[in-house]
Amino acid sequence: MVFKNEGPTPMHFLPEAWLIYNKSKKCSRGLLFMDGEEWLRFRKIINKLLLQPYDAKIITANACQNAAVTLTEEWKKNLVQDKWIIPKLETRLYEWSIEVMMASLLGSAWNKYRDSTGDKEADKLAENLHEIFILTARLSLLPIKYIVKFNFPVWKKFVRVMDEILKIVSTMVPEMINLRGDGLLRMMINKGMTEQDATRIVTDLILAAGDTAVFSTQWALFLLASHPDVQNKFADISGNLELKDTIKDSYIKGIIKESLRLYPTAPFLTRILPEDCLIAGHVVPRGELIIMSLYSSGRDPNNFVKPNEFMPERWIRNSKGNYDCVMNPFATIPFALGVRSCIGKKLAETQIIMILSEVVKNFNIDCLNKQNVKLKLHMISVPSESIKLQLAKRI
Ligand code: HEM
Repeated sequence: MVFKNEGPTPMHFLPEAWLIYNKSKKCSRGLLFMDGEEWLRFRKIINKLLLQPYDAKIITANACQNAAVTLTEEWKKNLVQDKWIIPKLETRLYEWSIEVMMASLLGSAWNKYRDSTGDKEADKLAENLHEIFILTARLSLLPIKYIVKFNFPVWKKFVRVMDEILKIVSTMVPEMINLRGDGLLRMMINKGMTEQDATRIVTDLILAAGDTAVFSTQWALFLLASHPDVQNKFADISGNLELKDTIKDSYIKGIIKESLRLYPTAPFLTRILPEDCLIAGHVVPRGELIIMSLYSSGRDPNNFVKPNEFMPERWIRNSKGNYDCVMNPFATIPFALGVRSCIGKKLAETQIIMILSEVVKNFNIDCLNKQNVKLKLHMISVPSESIKLQLAKRI
């Protein structure tokens, strides 16, 4: 109902810290922050690349595949004894997610770029993105206007890290354009985008991709580690498929759907409707902020049979084309719906499926602190403590 009434250029909520930063720095930002006709113009261009008909599919799939293989090869080398606990899993996943994004932007020129900067720029960006996520989450719990007015250390740090991110991206993008790659960036330029606009768009693609891909992957690894039967079935399926074909398998897709249903990385969807509306019997005035909890709808027994259980098979259709254990498939929409839904949805799914496939094909994974890890709301859904993931060679 909400999405039907969102209008042609839907509006969503944005963290206040970001809005204050953009205003104070007179900074024009990418899709996440745009509204109205400007948003629509850019969104139409990027839709063609990333959603329908997904022009960049081969480039992004190669980027996801190479990053997945690189990471698992690195972990294989570290597994010299029977078992190995991944140190700083979250940090390493930030690097992996930046690698996917940069390689998607550059296409075949990514290796050349990496050779010239020696991973330095990408890793620096990953580190700053990780930091900005932590700072944004902290600021979201504080009285932001007061914090800014009195220039509290947390705000100073936020500004410093954000400045650094924008500086890295605005230096990187022209260098990347000069390399004349065949990735997303070249496609944007070919579709008439200026270098300045491409920088704005790329900054927010990188920002929106970082945390979401990292935490969604961590939750999926956690669930697989806690469900050896699902993990083994996944390993059997992916062992018999080319990596590029794993993204088509319905059981594997069910693993991602279940993981995002139980642990929706973006747990709240928001809309600000352009007209007064009647929603679930309530009149919602135009301009009012609507917040929808994916966590609640995803775990509601009216929507899913055994709602708290991880059952990837519930997403396999029966002979009549229906789901047996799903009453309302729209109760889990981790990427939102409609014209303003996540533009990185397909890339994210490919990226996450490929890394999980590589991991379960090569390793048995276990989570050493599974009893203690709970979902914590930190702007997005994060684990209450670092996930201790232990790898053993899969035989
Ligand atoms: C599992 C991972 C991801 C999840 C769960 C996720 C979820 C979301 C959600 C819920 C929204 C808000 C949509 C709305 O307001 O209705 C969104 C927006 C967005 N996402 Fe994602 N996302 C993920 C990965 C990515 C990736 C990999 C990229 C980059 C390629 C990306 C780029 C964006 C952008 C740019 C927007 C803003 C779109 C706009 O306002 O037009 N996301 N995402």
